[in-house]
Amino acid sequence: MPVPSTMTQLPEEDLLFRILRQLDRAPDASQRHTAEAVGVSLGRLNTCLRAVSDAGLVRISERGGPDKRRRFAYSLTSRGAAEKIRLTDRFLARKFAEYDALHAELTGTTSGHVPLKHRTELMKNNLAPIPELYVSYESSLKLKVEAADLTSWDLTPRQICDLELLMNGGFNPLKGFLTEEDYDSVVDTMRLADGSLWPMPITLDVSEKFAESIEIGQDIALRDQEGVILGTMTVTDRWAPDKSKEAEKVFGADDLAHPAVNYLHNHAGKIYLGGPVTGIQQPVHYDFRARRDTPNELRATFRKLGWRRVVAFQTRNPLHRAHQELTFRAAKEAQANLLIHPVVGMTKPGDVDHFTRVRCYEAVLDKYPSSTTTMSLLPLAMRMAGPREAVWHGLIRANHGCTHFIVGRDHAGPGKNSAGEDFYGPYDAQDLFRTHQEEMGIEMVDFKHMVYVQERAQYEPNDEIEDKDNVTILNISGTELRRRLAEGLEIPEWFSFPEVVSELRKTRPPRSQQGFTVFFTGFSGSGKSTIANALMVKLMEMGGRPVTLLDGDIVRKNLSSELGFSKEHRDLNIRRIGYVASEITKNGGIAICAPIAPYQATRRAVREDIEAFGAFVEVHVATTIEECEKRDRKGLYKLAREGKIKEFTGISDPYDVPENPEIRLETEGTDVDNCAHQVVLKLESMGLIAAH
Ligand code: PPS
Repeated sequence: MPVPSTMTQLPEEDLLFRILRQLDRAPDASQRHTAEAVGVSLGRLNTCLRAVSDAGLVRISERGGPDKRRRFAYSLTSRGAAEKIRLTDRFLARKFAEYDALHAELTGTTSGHVPLKHRTELMKNNLAPIPELYVSYESSLKLKVEAADLTSWDLTPRQICDLELLMNGGFNPLKGFLTEEDYDSVVDTMRLADGSLWPMPITLDVSEKFAESIEIGQDIALRDQEGVILGTMTVTDRWAPDKSKEAEKVFGADDLAHPAVNYLHNHAGKIYLGGPVTGIQQPVHYDFRARRDTPNELRATFRKLGWRRVVAFQTRNPLHRAHQELTFRAAKEAQANLLIHPVVGMTKPGDVDHFTRVRCYEAVLDKYPSSTTTMSLLPLAMRMAGPREAVWHGLIRANHGCTHFIVGRDHAGPGKNSAGEDFYGPYDAQDLFRTHQEEMGIEMVDFKHMVYVQERAQYEPNDEIEDKDNVTILNISGTELRRRLAEGLEIPEWFSFPEVVSELRKTRPPRSQQGFTVFFTGFSGSGKSTIANALMVKLMEMGGRPVTLLDGDIVRKNLSSELGFSKEHRDLNIRRIGYVASEITKNGGIAICAPIAPYQATRRAVREDIEAFGAFVEVHVATTIEECEKRDRKGLYKLAREGKIKEFTGISDPYDVPENPEIRLETEGTDVDNCAHQVVLKLESMGLIAAH
């Protein structure tokens, strides 16, 4: 809506936009504050205020009150509000144009916003360069200096993975974190709002506090965990997503047993921000640098080697003989060269860490003919979304210059749901991929389950074995392999290569040599510390591993001396204990923790942290509150009843009874030695201490 000319000249658009935005945001601020926020002198602001008031954009009213510096309040009239919206749109349009120009500078395309389906034949070719979101080196130096003054968001590990693939073209055609419109469309239809196929919401989740501090149209700096600025984002969208709907639609169920659903509800921020990203630099990786390639680097490699057809093999597990056979067969079937393309970003919690896996891959690579096969590491954060994930993986591989993609049984499967059933059918991923492969520009090489036929001493797809009744079929599942490693049992040569097994044994020593955490929880005075002490002594008597006791009281004297007993402080206390215990566990020691730890969600989070490195044994010391109060060793219950201690667990503060602890101790009528012995027996039965 154009604004009529007035007696006093209106400020130029950019200043007008800043003034309207500031008055809208802080109508009661003093004039000096407004002038500072807008970046003009007080005199200039006064002239502008007169002009916007004359133009009917702002209503100025007397506030009264003692503070002379804040005599007036300013509110936008409806015309002013409409003008602010118009100027915001223009501001965003200008940002988009600048952003397009930056991309054109790097990619040579006229616009960075050409949808996939309109790309020229040349761009569809798997060997031509694809658009990246990085600016040129010179622009990045300039941008980096400018970005230092912007409000910053410290990216989570998952967001760093997403950003890397956004910036290097791995997530082409995405130009940034999804806008609300694209997000809704992806969740509902697996497509961006412009119709391009894209099955996975790539969102920038942030805290409510951070989201509130951001204005639409504002640029923010995206920093890694060391504070390095990797890129900037113009925030065009901010919204609170319906996470349960996202879980249902994208992952098939709103069930916390699904790792990505758990992440969504328990780790991701409540608010999503969306907008285009401008790439400044790649995340820094110190490991396996020679093995990491951007999509354009891989395309260049394929061009150089003359590989026109390339089949990619996605994996988050070590390669065993079955995988080698499968990849050989796939390359033959597709008449293509082979790219082993393992994920080294984030995989399923509990997976073998990527350092070990890459060492395993390198050992196996020698067994492939070097002229036909190569390996490159993909910094992807997997979601374990089965069928949708397979399509996503396919698009990512197409961006990396591949023409074919292997989809096996239960591709990117998350395991069992909370009812103990599979989330997806074993071949759902193949079915969904098949439906979309033409549009994706990458062909699926599908495989059924591979098994070992002893008589013929070779791997064959299970469904192609015609003489099943006359041959011996052997197979070792992932769970069985983990069991054999954990118990130090033999792993046969028909299953894996000795080099791979020896690497795995280095990082996965048998359970009886791994670190672990025993986590006691229960009311104050339930007997946690006493039993924990007895357990510590018994474990020290056995020897072999260092034992550390993180008792509630001791921790509160040292690690958490400044904390009280609010929910927030208790959570912080438990997370600190969990962190120390996870470090001890990682380094092969035994951590015994004995805090009250009243909240289930916090205990679960600590469990997750620790299970990444070793076993977590939750011991519920189930002494009733009545008994604890009767014993009242420290006299605290009396004080709590008198109201002299507030927020006292069990009296005036909640305690979530553990639902599935590894062991529940009934202490009433059982002596301490016996309780500690029950824990020792449990540890023995779990293989954590050698039976003797
Ligand atoms: S928590 O909730 O896990 O952070 O608590 P924790 O660190 O184990 O600390 C509990 C010990 O602090 C004493 N204490 C209280 N407990 C519960 N509620 C309130 N309000 C409180 N105030 C002080 C109490 O002695 C606890 O020790 P234990 O060893 O459990 O008896």
